[in-house]
Amino acid sequence: MGEVQAVMKRTDKEMMIRLAGQAIKARENSYAPYSGYCVGAALMTTQGKIYTGCNVENASYGATNCAERTAFFKAVSEGERHFEAIAVAGGKAGEPPADYAWPCGICRQVMQEFGGEDFLVIVAISTEDFIVHTLQDILPHGFSGEKLTWRY
Ligand code: THU
Repeated sequence: MGEVQAVMKRTDKEMMIRLAGQAIKARENSYAPYSGYCVGAALMTTQGKIYTGCNVENASYGATNCAERTAFFKAVSEGERHFEAIAVAGGKAGEPPADYAWPCGICRQVMQEFGGEDFLVIVAISTEDFIVHTLQDILPHGFSGEKLTWRY
């Protein structure tokens, strides 16, 4: 059984569809006046609670926060630490997603911090069309805090 298939036993297809739907819905709150690219994310904890997020841009472009990190920071700031999956959907403002919106490198690194080894990344165009990968697939040889244990 492949890695993704094994994880699908926990996060079943129905749950993936639900997360994809919530990510698409979260795009509605996207604040993207500079790029016009609206992204939504839906992050699920290991307990099944869902936190959504959208991208929040800034006139000082570097201050922009991606949708995935918004969802993570909302959840972590509420005390959550264990996550199972995230769905992401993005595309031109006012239009449904036309293509897969792959998470940026910084967001993948945040997933590495809080997601487990088999954390799932669901990249959705719609609730019928999405691709599922483990984080390890899209961030091989990721850097994690284990490398820093000599500090403690
Ligand atoms: N964006 C995200 O929200 N998530 C990503 O993983 C990639 C990019 C946002 C940031 C910015 O508001 C817009 O997409 C264009 O880069």
